[in-house]
Amino acid sequence: MIEIKKDFPLKYRNTFGLNISSHYFVETSKADKISFSLNYASYYNLPILILGGGSNILFTKDFEGLIIQPTVQGIEVIEDAPQSVTIRVGAGVNWDSLVEWCVSRGYGGLENLSLIPGNVGASPIQNIGAYGVEAKDTIVKVEGLNIITKKMAEFTNAECLFDYRYSIFKGELRHRIIITNVHFKLSKTPTLITHYGNLDEEIEKLGEKSIKTVREAVINIRKRKLPDPVELGNAGSFFKNPVVKASVFESIQGKFDKVPSFPATENHVKIPAGWLIEQCGWKGKQVGNCGVHKDQALVLVNHGNATGSEILNLAKQIQKSVVDQFGIELEMEVNIV
Ligand code: FAD
Ligand code: EPU
Repeated sequence: MIEIKKDFPLKYRNTFGLNISSHYFVETSKADKISFSLNYASYYNLPILILGGGSNILFTKDFEGLIIQPTVQGIEVIEDAPQSVTIRVGAGVNWDSLVEWCVSRGYGGLENLSLIPGNVGASPIQNIGAYGVEAKDTIVKVEGLNIITKKMAEFTNAECLFDYRYSIFKGELRHRIIITNVHFKLSKTPTLITHYGNLDEEIEKLGEKSIKTVREAVINIRKRKLPDPVELGNAGSFFKNPVVKASVFESIQGKFDKVPSFPATENHVKIPAGWLIEQCGWKGKQVGNCGVHKDQALVLVNHGNATGSEILNLAKQIQKSVVDQFGIELEMEVNIV
């Protein structure tokens, strides 16, 4: 039997710590039970939302439908080759436990993605990334249940259409696939990627370069910069870093000293949204119960009793001032519900 809970509180299931609930809620590790939940939702005509660790979601009100939280567990080695290992991981496995599992066995590829909150099932959705690495670099296959056809489906890396903070699961297949397992190919002879920001410098303080020291260094840097959601509600970067034409970047460079940037394509540049927001005077500002983090302007925070609508209003004010000052539209990274 599967238990569908009613008026289920979500305060501890969203990292903004918003005091909201879902009319119906089910957590399940079995594909057949997920199918049953889908039938239940169709029968009662309920909207469906899939929830992982709730670390990239902003609820603006109670959810008037059925939330399904896939808790599929397990890390299974499906191919052990001389140079690599391929693993199949359940959607409900905590992301950082997976990274720790890999690093402790000497399997490289995920170490730069240490300490990202959330579950494995969400990692392909926005193609999580940090410190020069993205989930797409190691994902070989994604398995999931199609909500419409109620059939299991598989997607190769190419079929996922991965891009910066994007995949087909945020595009054409948005809210259509419940990801149940993700396959990753890891290296037993990894090439370390340490060029991002001050990563190299941080690793040097720890000793010899290895996947272990990369993980440790990333954790140290992240702990210094990003607020811990347990202490201060947040969902990481609220906006994506905008990719702008080189000409737009040059005109900004004409007005400001040292504009930070990352190369995007031949004629485009990625500008850190945190810098744009800081230039607009938002860094560290509190507005009612929410605000902009004091050390990272890209992170919006809940100072205690904020509502989702208050945070969304703040986000819209920030977007407006960045348009007014720079003519650049910031796109939200966080999923608004
Ligand atoms: P949720 O927030 O629960 O869901 C996110 C989206 O995925 C929703 O649309 C949901 O419907 C969908 N979804 C979740 N699980 C499934 C599933 N099994 N099947 C289908 N759809 C699903 N992100 C980065 O990329 N890089 C970072 O460096 C980073 N740092 C962060 C730091 C902090 C402090 C915080 C709070 C967040 C950070 N994030 C970062 C954002 C977030 O952790 C990631 O996006 C993460 O992958 C979200 O996982 P989740 O399980 O919490 O997903
Ligand atoms: N910056 C500022 N002011 C700020 C914040 C940043 O000027 O308040 C400038 C600085 O020049 C800094 C640069 O922005 O050097 C980059 O900052 P940081 O290294 O903190 O990275 P980010 O671009 O703000 C991105 C990701 C993060 C990821 C880090 C590390 C996006 C939207 N965000 O942030 O991902 O952890 O790089 O790789 O791409 C997330 O997606 O939730 C997330 C936290």
